[in-house]
Amino acid sequence: MKRDSLPGCWRDFADALGAGIDRIVLYGPSGTGKTYAALREGVASAGAHRLVCTEDMTAADVTGCWMPTAGGQFEWLDGAAVRAWRGDGVLGGRLVVDEADRAAGDVLALLLAVCDTDGSARFDHPATGAAITPLPGFSVVMTTNLEHPEELPSALRDRFPVAIEIDAPHPDAIELLPEDLRDAAMATAVAPSSRRASLRAFYAYARLRESLEPERAARLAFGADRGREIADALAIDAAELGA
Ligand SMILES: Nc1ncnc2c1ncn2[C@@H]1O[C@H](COP(=O)(O)OP(=O)(O)OP(=O)(O)O)[C@@H](O)[C@H]1O
Ligand SMILES: [Mg+2]
Repeated sequence: MKRDSLPGCWRDFADALGAGIDRIVLYGPSGTGKTYAALREGVASAGAHRLVCTEDMTAADVTGCWMPTAGGQFEWLDGAAVRAWRGDGVLGGRLVVDEADRAAGDVLALLLAVCDTDGSARFDHPATGAAITPLPGFSVVMTTNLEHPEELPSALRDRFPVAIEIDAPHPDAIELLPEDLRDAAMATAVAPSSRRASLRAFYAYARLRESLEPERAARLAFGADRGREIADALAIDAAELGA
């Protein structure tokens, strides 16, 4: 998709990365393409590494842990942050911190260190003893469904100078849908929460209606109440198109 035809929020993301901003928060409703874009946009050969924050995550997810091997030994497995710091060995990669608002306690403290400006971040590797620091080019994109990025822990928010509200689904994601569903998906993906339906539900609906009655497909994909409303709206659109 050409930059000029992108919705403003997606253009902002591309332009902020292009300008060299390497700590960015993407926030907004679920299923609009935040994680997809964070894993790909501006990511070169050094690759992207995803860290999904949960209440149960530990330092193992972030920096790594010792794992038993089949031979009865232990070997160190790098966590997502260390893998992203190392990148391809020449350039640092992308760390995608998904659902960043769920990080808490010790893991949050570790994340703060990992996301710090590159000059002050450092990890002493338990297996080799080497001091690991982020290679040049290392970047972090955090995603969250919070409506206001200020609700993130302030020390974490402070490390990310640019926060972009994703208020439109990515057009490339919309294009994967059959043509008659695109307008409805575009509008309902970012509607107020009582009327919202995510892109994922539209993908499921498109698949289900290939073999099921449209009303039943809508009920399964969107739930009983929303399903009826969306099936009715799509039927009206189809009737108008046919008229
Ligand atoms: N640019 C794109 N091209 C193709 N498919 C896409 C694109 N963006 C998103 N998708 C698809 O749309 C769905 C939702 O995308 P994604 O998981 O990135 O949303 P999200 O905004 O991170 O949602 P959440 O807030 O729930 O984590 C996925 O199935 C993904 O593969
Ligand atoms: Mg996501």
